[in-house]
Amino acid sequence: MLSRDRDVRAALADWETFSSRGGLSLHPRPRHEAGVIIASDPRRPGDPPGVPDHGDLIRAVAGHFSPRAIARLSGPVRAWAHSLVGDLVSAGSFDTVAALARVVPTRVVGDLVGLPEADRYQYADWAAAAMSLQGPDSVIAPHVADRLGAMREHVTQLGTNGGLALAGVGAAVFSAADNDGPLTRQDAISIVWGALIVAGLHTTVAALTWALLAAATYPYQWDRYRNWHRSGDPARLAWTDELLRYESIFPLGYRTTTTVAKVDGYVIPARSRVLILYGAANRDPARWPAADQFVVGRHGVGQHLGLGDGTHRCIGQHLARLETTAVLDAFAAHGVCGFSPVEQQAVWEPNAAVRGWSRFPMTVTLREANHAARI
Ligand code: HEM
Repeated sequence: MLSRDRDVRAALADWETFSSRGGLSLHPRPRHEAGVIIASDPRRPGDPPGVPDHGDLIRAVAGHFSPRAIARLSGPVRAWAHSLVGDLVSAGSFDTVAALARVVPTRVVGDLVGLPEADRYQYADWAAAAMSLQGPDSVIAPHVADRLGAMREHVTQLGTNGGLALAGVGAAVFSAADNDGPLTRQDAISIVWGALIVAGLHTTVAALTWALLAAATYPYQWDRYRNWHRSGDPARLAWTDELLRYESIFPLGYRTTTTVAKVDGYVIPARSRVLILYGAANRDPARWPAADQFVVGRHGVGQHLGLGDGTHRCIGQHLARLETTAVLDAFAAHGVCGFSPVEQQAVWEPNAAVRGWSRFPMTVTLREANHAARI
């Protein structure tokens, strides 16, 4: 188990020793992880044919998640978030998870990938289920394994029967697989299923819930955010990264050693399962002064490990930042000066990979003077 910033960072940089090919679950690679981007490595000399190459897989989607591509989504996502949050603010109280955190990524990722609207909430449930299978057995794990087969089958049908919107990333991935090139149909299914739906939905649901809880727990930081928002100061963009450092929504991952590895004088035998604790590293006092405090704007926050690092650093990071900022900006624009969580009614979600909530009622307080809205 690696827990220090220094050791985690070094392991993530050394994919040849700390390989992802064994999957990113505690147990030896479950079948549902076969061919997903995160369970692959760059090709090595001597690899047998058919071993997926990380570079081939990631290239199929990377362009759709670049800063420039995500910036093109900014206007529509912000306008829509402004309207959604406006309704919640008018209501005065709402369940953060059901009314907001599930709604935003389901719509944003759904539109980006081109998923059929009718099925989107089902995908969000499946994504949570898939994530729950990554770690030690959780209370829901036994009930979800069979649903994953159904999910892959569903994605296969979408790709085969033209169920994905033509302009979406999903259709582009399937069409790349049908052309001459390194991608197979199985790769396309794994990418749409694993890299877009599973990786892109449940993580952000948790992030958005934690974003409001941070604003509730640290009112001074929320005051600063509102001031930055009012003056158009980009300093507020650092909120998401401090959140991902502080809360580590995806707090752990796994690697398998390909050879004997040495960490700080300790020997890890070859073919060992290594637990990588992003969450612990993000609170490492040797790396982060006042590590247990939420301080927006801290020095070097972009180097946190809440989005991983190295070869497998999160491709959805710019989208996750856009979704979080769009939502927080909307609350600021609607004049929300305080959040009060109803903790007695909150329900923690038993999930082995993503830290989050199933339910978190919240009440908002409005400031008296109404400033002009900035979308
Ligand atoms: C706040 C939300 C998110 C968090 C906390 C998060 C966290 C992470 C982490 C920690 C990793 C690295 C895991 C490892 O190396 O073991 C990762 C990788 C990845 N993430 Fe995210 N993620 C988020 C949002 C997204 C979104 C929105 C998408 C896509 C729509 C996405 C797609 C991916 C993919 C495809 C990878 C694998 C990249 C590779 O293997 O090269 N993530 N994410």
